[in-house]
Amino acid sequence: MKVGNDIYYVGVNDHQVDLFEGQYDVPNGMSYNSYVIMDEKIAVMDTVDAHFAEEWLGNVANVLNGAKPDYLVVQHMEPDHAANIENFVKAYPEVTVVANTKTFTMMENFFRGMDLGDRKLVVANGESLTLGKHVLTFVFAPMVHWPEVMVTYDSTDKVLFSADGFGKFGALDVEEDWDCEARRYYIGIVGKYGPQVQKLLKAASTLDIQTICPLHGPILTENLGHYIEKYDIWSSYKVEDEGVVIAYSSVYGNTKKAVEVLAQKLEEKGCPKVSVFDLARDDMAEAVEDAFRYGKLVLATITYNADIFPFMKTYIDHLTERNYQNRTIGLIENGSWAPNAAKVMKAEFEKSKNITWLDTTVKIMSSLSEENMEQLDQMAEELCK
Ligand code: FEO
Repeated sequence: MKVGNDIYYVGVNDHQVDLFEGQYDVPNGMSYNSYVIMDEKIAVMDTVDAHFAEEWLGNVANVLNGAKPDYLVVQHMEPDHAANIENFVKAYPEVTVVANTKTFTMMENFFRGMDLGDRKLVVANGESLTLGKHVLTFVFAPMVHWPEVMVTYDSTDKVLFSADGFGKFGALDVEEDWDCEARRYYIGIVGKYGPQVQKLLKAASTLDIQTICPLHGPILTENLGHYIEKYDIWSSYKVEDEGVVIAYSSVYGNTKKAVEVLAQKLEEKGCPKVSVFDLARDDMAEAVEDAFRYGKLVLATITYNADIFPFMKTYIDHLTERNYQNRTIGLIENGSWAPNAAKVMKAEFEKSKNITWLDTTVKIMSSLSEENMEQLDQMAEELCK
């Protein structure tokens, strides 16, 4: 696949991965993207996951067609991209590895015993490398997603090689909506680092970008404003769409019943979107994604060991560690002798910024009472205000 005049896609699709980065379910697989820029000097942009060494080296060799690469640019050291650095320098012993100081330190730690000798080119933030027609400028993007990350701008073809930025779950041989799986990817993987993404967007806004070449997901060539707007919303923790997420954990079905009643009341009142998650059974990353997508969240759980049910604890951790903020939260607790979950859940958000709590909290003692039904009505009323 060709991108512009001299840039070739040499990435791979992974349909074997069980959990991406050890935790994310990827029903449509994953792509690890890599690119070759054919110019007077030839640059290869990043490698791919360890399982695809042979396929990737084959893709690169096809494009090189006997030519020798001059540079391997390493934008990110996470092994889904960097696992084949040593294989590459063995295959092409004359290649120079281009990276920043932090990247080279990580490289030494990942590839103990690999000696690049003088085949290292250390680049600084804003520094350029001329390949011939193409001039690559490196822009450091720390914490998007690791501290060593840099993106690369090719001013000739106006291409931004954006590392993990603008990536998504899903292999490239599966057609699917970008927003949904890009959002789940972004919130899950980079969600904590909104301010750093904002900084990168600011730097990118000074560049004339016509193509975005990420390390995962499709190459973006049209309507770039759409993707940039999504990144701006996500990284500034703004509400993307109106709606209510109800996330629950229930053991014998009584808490679940309260959630079903609330969801029905919200729908009857014309709530634009009600998104319900059983935290023990549904995809955790989707439940996290939707909490960041919509403006209102209801958490419903049983009391467990004078605390909250483990799945709810994990869920709240996922939210708070990603700097969940600017949202409205309502609480439903259940407990057969000493309900305590609402207090525990509220305390979990102590450090979260700009959280508005609903006036109504629903306290269930084992099963729904008449009073609970009224409370759920009030809660629905507040959520729909
Ligand atoms: Fe796709 Fe942070 O590696």
